[in-house]
Amino acid sequence: MITLRTVLRRLTLLLLVGLLLLLLGGCSESANSGVQQAVPTPQHSPAVLTGLLPSGDTAAAKQVVLGFSQLGSESTWREANTASIREAAAEAGITLLLSNAEQDQQKQFEAIRSFIRRKVDVIAVAPVVQTGWEPVLLEIRQAGIPVIIVDRSVNVEDRSLYVTFIGSDFYQEGVKAAKYVIDKLRHHPEAIRIAELQGTVGSTPSIDRGRGFRKLIEERPNLEITMSAPADFTQSGGREVMRTFLQQPREKWPRVLFSHNDDMAIGAVDAIREAGLVPGEDMIIVSVDGTRRAFEQMTAGNINAVVECNPLLGPLLMQAVAEIMAGRTLPKRMVTPEDIYTQELAAMEVENRKY
Ligand code: AHR
Repeated sequence: MITLRTVLRRLTLLLLVGLLLLLLGGCSESANSGVQQAVPTPQHSPAVLTGLLPSGDTAAAKQVVLGFSQLGSESTWREANTASIREAAAEAGITLLLSNAEQDQQKQFEAIRSFIRRKVDVIAVAPVVQTGWEPVLLEIRQAGIPVIIVDRSVNVEDRSLYVTFIGSDFYQEGVKAAKYVIDKLRHHPEAIRIAELQGTVGSTPSIDRGRGFRKLIEERPNLEITMSAPADFTQSGGREVMRTFLQQPREKWPRVLFSHNDDMAIGAVDAIREAGLVPGEDMIIVSVDGTRRAFEQMTAGNINAVVECNPLLGPLLMQAVAEIMAGRTLPKRMVTPEDIYTQELAAMEVENRKY
């Protein structure tokens, strides 16, 4: 028989169990919210990245979206750069919205504004030229989206407008090219004329390679840059501009060509042959990038040396996106290590070239 005492005891027990459950529930909730707060979450972003965390964590992950404004498709380097970014994004499980601006800054602005409207998590930009970026970078900041500058830099007073700049040291590339020329001609005290094929006007690689090269060449009294013109980093541009250089009287023809990239150098090789000269012998040719095509030209003796400029920036870019999404800080500048190759090394290296 159930007495009143038993009923009261059972009721008290039930009450105690209920209280205990309530307390436990409260604790686990506050423990969970503590973990969430400990993971910094940038604007518009999930706490974790698909494919960048151990598989157990990916179940709860939201897809990260990266908007990338690529400046164009003017060269072999650029194609390799675009491919590297596509592949690395796929590998990291990052959704990539890639827009090709065809060397037009206005198109880059439009692409960036569309990324803002789509509320992407991170915006990356490979800027066609250095100037004119402040207004659009301010728009991105107002939208609370972090920015990564890739390959070429931007001239802005406020460097906090972007998180990091990943790319080559173009100035040093120019210096390396000049050192090669100086060394190659060390036994030639006579006056030497140098022609320069510049890249896109106003672009970082063209400005900085030109500065680095000049810095050393101008210290040598017998070396002089007598011809210099932009050819937009394209093979056809290189061919055309070299043709105009060689329309000058023969006594003004250059002994050396410094080309700001491989595509223009390869175009110039055609023009040099058309003029009856032997490229690589009658005219010493140094270029920048290190594409497989340039290595083949070196092996054939047409180009003398190539300064490497690495386009395979995809993995580093995706890593930077992951770091930003995890709320970690990044160095303001990330420089890719690069080399210089001469004809002697070209045959050995040509098969190893990845771009
Ligand atoms: O910004 C990198 C430069 O742009 C590469 O040297 C050139 O080939 C490209 O078009």
